[in-house]
Amino acid sequence: MVRSTTLVAAAAALALNAHAESLYSKKSAVLQITGADYDRVIAKSNYTSIVEFYAPWCGHCKNLQPQYEKAAKSLAGIAKVAAVNCDDEINKPFCGKMGVQGFPTLKIVRPSKKPGKPTVEDYQGQRQAKAIVDTVKDKIPNIVKRITDPKLDEWLEENKDTAKAILFSDKGLVSATLRTLAIDFAGIVNIAQIRKSEAAAVEKYGITKFPSLILIPAGSADPIKHEGEVSKDAMVQFLSQIAPPNPDCPEPKAKKPKAKKDDAKKESKSSSKFSKASAAHKSADASSAATSAMHETLEEASKPTESPTPETPAVEPILEDEVPAKPTLRSLAESADLQASCLNKKSTTCILAILPKDETSEAAANAVASLASIHKKHDALKTKLFPFFSVPASNPLAATIVSELSLGSAEQVHLIAVHGKRAWYKKYSGEAFDATSVEQWVDAIRMGEGEKKKLPESLLGGGEKKQETPEHGEL
Ligand SMILES: *[C@@H]1O[C@H](CO)[C@@H](O)[C@H](O)[C@H]1NC(C)=O
Repeated sequence: MVRSTTLVAAAAALALNAHAESLYSKKSAVLQITGADYDRVIAKSNYTSIVEFYAPWCGHCKNLQPQYEKAAKSLAGIAKVAAVNCDDEINKPFCGKMGVQGFPTLKIVRPSKKPGKPTVEDYQGQRQAKAIVDTVKDKIPNIVKRITDPKLDEWLEENKDTAKAILFSDKGLVSATLRTLAIDFAGIVNIAQIRKSEAAAVEKYGITKFPSLILIPAGSADPIKHEGEVSKDAMVQFLSQIAPPNPDCPEPKAKKPKAKKDDAKKESKSSSKFSKASAAHKSADASSAATSAMHETLEEASKPTESPTPETPAVEPILEDEVPAKPTLRSLAESADLQASCLNKKSTTCILAILPKDETSEAAANAVASLASIHKKHDALKTKLFPFFSVPASNPLAATIVSELSLGSAEQVHLIAVHGKRAWYKKYSGEAFDATSVEQWVDAIRMGEGEKKKLPESLLGGGEKKQETPEHGEL
C-alpha cells in the first residue's frame, strides 16, 4: 500500500516535471537534441557523435554532467557531443526506440559506408571527460592519405582537378583534428600527411617547422603556406580559400507542416549551433576548444627530440598511459587452436603475428610488444577490436602459412590480418615493428583499407568450434 502510494506520488511528480529542466544550460557546449533532430543532425551527419540519453533526476547523470560538458568543449569542431532528455515526453518514444534502458546511456554514432545508416554502439568506458574524448576521437574515420617520399609524385598526379593540402608532421599518426578537417573538405581538398623523416618532400616544400600545412590549388605548382596557427579553426579558414567546407549534416527542411513550432525552433537552434562549432566560425567555444585540442598535438610535436633518431619519438603516442612491464599476446600453439580461433569458414578478422623460431629476435619481440600494447590501449578505451594472437614457429601451421601466402623468410616475423569467412588476408609490409608503424596498419584494417588477397581454402578448417559471428557490422 505504502509503496504504491509512493509510486503514485512519484509518478505525479514526474508528470508535473514532464518538461523537466534540462541538465545542460542554454550556453552549454553540449548539443541538446530531441528525437526529431536525431536523424538529420546525428544520423545523417558526416561527423562522429556521442549521444547521452539521460533523465534530469538521475544521480549518475548529474555526476556525469560536468565531465560531459568538458568533453564537449574539447571535442568542439571535431565530433558532436549531444544529449537527449528522455524525461521529456516528446523524446520518450525515441529513447525507447534507441533501446535505452537505464540512465545515463551513452552511444557513439558514426557514419558507415551506407549514407544515413550510421554505426551505433554503446559507450561502456569510464564516465570521465578524458576517456570519452579519447574514445570518440578514436572512432573518427580517417581519409587522410599518409604519404612517403617515393609515393609523393604519384599522389600529386592523382585527381589533378582537386586542390590538395599536406600537413607535415613529426608524428606518424593522423590526429583527430586533421581527420575531421579532411572530412570537412572531402571532395574539395584532398589532404595528406607527410612525416618529418621524408626528407625529399620536406626539402621540396622548404618545410622547417612541424606541424606545417600547405595548400596546393588545382592546376598549380605553387603551394601556399599556412602561416597561422595550426588549430582546427585556423586551418578551416585557410582551406576555405578554395571553397567553404561541406555542411556537416543536411539543412533543416523548410517548414514541415507536421512539425510543431516548438520542435522546429529547437531543431534550428541546435543545428545552427553545431554548424557554427564545426565550421569554427566566430565560435569562442569552438575556437578555444579546437586550439586546446590542437595543443596536445602541438605540445607533443614541439617536444625537443632528445632521442638520437627521429624514428623513435620521445613519446610513443600509443604508450601514453601505462606501459605494461611485459606485454604479451595470447599464443596459439596448436594448429587446432589457430583454426578454431581464426582460420575457419566462420571466423572474422584476426591479426596474427607469425613468429620465427628465434622469438627473441628484435623484430619478433617488437612486433609482439607493439600488438600487445595496441590491444591494451583499445581495451582500456573499451573500443571493440578484433583479436590479436601470436603463432609460434612450433605450430605446424606457421610454416604452412608462411609458404602458402609467400610471406617470405620463415626466419622473420610476419604480421597478417585474416578473415576466414570472407577468405582474405592482408599483409603488413612495413619493415619496422614499432608500435606507431604497426598501429597505422591496424588502423587501416579497422577502416577496411589495405590490399586484400585471397586466403587459400586449404588453410581454412571447418570451424568445428562454434564461433560468435555477427551477421554484419564486422570490421
Ligand atoms: C558529407 O561529405 C560529403 C563528401 O564526402 C559531402 O558531399 C557532403 O556534402 C557532406 N555533408 C553531408 C550532409 O552529407
